[in-house]
Amino acid sequence: MSIPRLNEDEVEQLPPDIAKKARALLLSLVRPHLPMAIFLFVIVVLTALFLVIGPIFIADALDNGVPKAVEGDPGPLIRAVSAFVISAIASAVLAFASTRLVGITAQKVVYTLRSRLFGHIQRLDLGYHERSTSGRLVSRQTSDMESVQQFLTYSLFDTALALFEMTFIAVTLIVLDVPLAIVVFLGFIPLFFITKSAHTSQRNAYRRTRTSIAKVIVHFVETMGGIRAVQAYRRQPDRRGTLKDEDTAYRDANTDALRGVAWFAGWTRLVGNVTQTVIIIVGAWLVIEDWTQVGVLAAFILYLRRFYGPLDELVQSFNLYQSASAALEKMAAVLDTDPEVVAPTRPRALPAHSSHQSSGATSAADPSSKPSGRSIELNHVRFSYGDGPDVLPRFDLRIPVGEIVALVGATGAGKSTLVKLVTRFYDPSEGRITIDEVDLRDLDDAQLRQSVVMVTQESFLFAGTIADNIRIGNPDAGDDEVIAAATAVGLDPYIRNLPEGYDTDVKKRGGRLSSGQRQLVSFARVFLANPDIVVLDEATAHLDIPSERLVQKALATVLEGRTAIIIAHRLSTVEIADRVLVMDSGRIIEDGTPDELISGAGKFAQLHKAWRDSLV
Ligand SMILES: Nc1ncnc2c1ncn2[C@@H]1O[C@H](COP(=O)(O)OP(=O)(O)OP(=O)(O)O)[C@@H](O)[C@H]1O
Ligand SMILES: [Mg+2]
Repeated sequence: MSIPRLNEDEVEQLPPDIAKKARALLLSLVRPHLPMAIFLFVIVVLTALFLVIGPIFIADALDNGVPKAVEGDPGPLIRAVSAFVISAIASAVLAFASTRLVGITAQKVVYTLRSRLFGHIQRLDLGYHERSTSGRLVSRQTSDMESVQQFLTYSLFDTALALFEMTFIAVTLIVLDVPLAIVVFLGFIPLFFITKSAHTSQRNAYRRTRTSIAKVIVHFVETMGGIRAVQAYRRQPDRRGTLKDEDTAYRDANTDALRGVAWFAGWTRLVGNVTQTVIIIVGAWLVIEDWTQVGVLAAFILYLRRFYGPLDELVQSFNLYQSASAALEKMAAVLDTDPEVVAPTRPRALPAHSSHQSSGATSAADPSSKPSGRSIELNHVRFSYGDGPDVLPRFDLRIPVGEIVALVGATGAGKSTLVKLVTRFYDPSEGRITIDEVDLRDLDDAQLRQSVVMVTQESFLFAGTIADNIRIGNPDAGDDEVIAAATAVGLDPYIRNLPEGYDTDVKKRGGRLSSGQRQLVSFARVFLANPDIVVLDEATAHLDIPSERLVQKALATVLEGRTAIIIAHRLSTVEIADRVLVMDSGRIIEDGTPDELISGAGKFAQLHKAWRDSLV
């Protein structure tokens, strides 16, 4: 059996007007640098002018300077050569200035884009992240960003320069000699059609390269994330096979794109060379007939090199441009996604705690203040994920201040869904959820996150020290508060045994924590955050009896004085609850104190008996 393959196209559908959105995004990024952009524009024009002016001095040197010098007057020749040298130096100085300024500006633009994208990804609701794969977002931030950066840094300016240079050359050619200029322009008719057809096919090819590199990254990120499962089930050959397929698709997309480039380069070179040949023949004839001068013909040949030279550069730039615009489209699509859970326009605050009015609403962040719970109420709540079936068909529940509720029920009953609603990771499809009478949708986001803390099953540890990881609960907490929190949950003795105590790096060898210890870190975070409401999705992982005791004791300490909803997978957790709710298919089927339910004849009584039996 093979591991199901992620289909990037399934999870990602670009909106139809994405090209427009990508342009708008680019414009918004460039707008703050408008004065610099205008300055660079002037530099481009000047550079192109100096490049184009050079051959005119050479023509002048040949047609006027040399004959005059032969006659004994070297003045015009010296003047023409000096002018050529000066224009060459000026264009070198401008080239330095422009490359430097483009470098600085492009990096600023990419920096803004990078932070805007990251900020937006973080703001997107949990639903979005549960639907999409993290690898896809990783590829937005890495390979796509790289592509945009390459284009802005290396080819935008060069493209503009090439275009101006070609325009100025065209004007100069007309001024120098109209019939010869017409021959050159005739060569542009096939070039126009070649460019046009290349543009469409290249765009599609480059879109494919962006999509396929994203798939490669998705697969890579997923394999690394699931490396335990991959190794445990010996799925390496299978994963490698899939990666090979994705890599093949990426290689083919790139090969196709490059084939287009090769055709384009070949055709332009051919047209350029044919034109040059025709110019030499026609030009020689014109010189013989005395309709034009040798210097003009020499200038024409020099200009033709310059005229078709930038075309090669344009091909390269065109490449990067296609790739970058496909990447920008993908980023624009992410930025265009609005979070479904939106912050209120006119946020309301929770009422101040009656027990310690003076400290007001901010007391939640102050770990020294005594915790006080808040009431939670769900009114006629209906919920489904997207267009899926109702997970909670109609839910009503009232949890008074300070009550500890244990939630039990079969897998898929909707327990995690319920707590994701109470913590406002999702909004209900219908009905309302209130905390102390304030609808979650109206509640100030900062206060919501301060008052309601969810402890997740995975107890995620970030790179850094143990102290840093505990401090996530309250970034302003001092060292003594961190130690107090660790002590309160019984983690302190373990930390002191680690090689560098609180400064031990959790990702390094010697700093690794067991799953029980990781849970204690989460509890210490809660202790520091000091919320009114704690929501806990208990880890199902089986702890040994001493660890379980330790975790249970810590839990009781953390919950003291707060309102809590705990999804309980352990009997010992249910025992510290004031009330037990048994859920089944999104409904409450039993509701009472642990003792009431145990002595009854319902589901919980059966469950309890099974638990008891498993312990002996
Ligand atoms: N992100 C999601 N998108 C779509 N459906 C989901 C999502 N999360 C859960 N569901 C569905 O909602 C239902 C309830 O899931 P939920 O996670 O709330 O169950 P649970 O009671 O927490 O189960 P468990 O004890 O196994 O954790 C399930 O049928 C599940 O398939
Ligand atoms: Mg669950």
